[in-house]
Amino acid sequence: MKIFKSKHKLKEEISNIKNISFVPTMGGLHKGHISLIKKSQNFKGKTLVSIFVNPKQFNEKKDFLNYPRDLKKDLKILKHLKVDLIYLPSLKDIFSFKVKNKIFLDKFSKKLCGRSRKGHFKGVLNIVNRFLELIKPKYIFLGIKDFQQSHLISKHILKRKINTKVIICNTIREKNGVAYSTRNNNLNNNQFKIASKVIKYLKNKKRLVKNKISNLNLYDFKKDLMNLGVTKIDYIEFYNLKTLKRPKSKKENFKIFIAFYLNKTRLIDNI
Ligand code: PAF
Repeated sequence: MKIFKSKHKLKEEISNIKNISFVPTMGGLHKGHISLIKKSQNFKGKTLVSIFVNPKQFNEKKDFLNYPRDLKKDLKILKHLKVDLIYLPSLKDIFSFKVKNKIFLDKFSKKLCGRSRKGHFKGVLNIVNRFLELIKPKYIFLGIKDFQQSHLISKHILKRKINTKVIICNTIREKNGVAYSTRNNNLNNNQFKIASKVIKYLKNKKRLVKNKISNLNLYDFKKDLMNLGVTKIDYIEFYNLKTLKRPKSKKENFKIFIAFYLNKTRLIDNI
């Protein structure tokens, strides 16, 4: 496992590598990340994992400061997984070069998390665009838990004709149904149990919704979730995954998207 803190050294190292499978992370590695990495290792070539907590994608400074970090533990996990290359840039290293491609921000960025986290997706695309220019990976691995993020990165790659294929990977869940997330580290036992109840509630609702789901009263959903112990709901919305519109019938391939707070911790999921 080779660790790089400088983009110049990294570029030198990878200049002769044909196929790079890239897994971008903000550290706080969990089973979700591990599954992305293992998947990337099934592809020909080398796996490169980046760890960088990107301040530009946090709309609140406090949230950035409270984001769970444990580099020592992360490196232990990556070593155990026999990851080939690790990139740990500093703020200066990653932001101090002029990019060729301008960020393309699709209109879907205005929905869901885009409404409640101003500037978030611009910050995500800024850093991902930089990584893509530096690394020129053949594949980038992203989790479908962050559906909106994966969608927007895919759109950017397509629009800017970047030669990288996006591989979207399944959500990995705890036994109680809660999706693995670095932010789960900030939950206490009780909050973790409430998160599990939220997921079970939504799974059940998804099963039960009848046709004409476009007329569902989401206010009742919100009320029920608040009664389960949720502190605040940023959004709960149904989307057809293809059209990105609210589905009209249960037969459509749709998901329930949610962002909610347990005390100060904000979690997102799609079911
Ligand atoms: O999903 C994340 O962890 C981040 O948004 C990403 C893609 C690493 C960009 O900072």
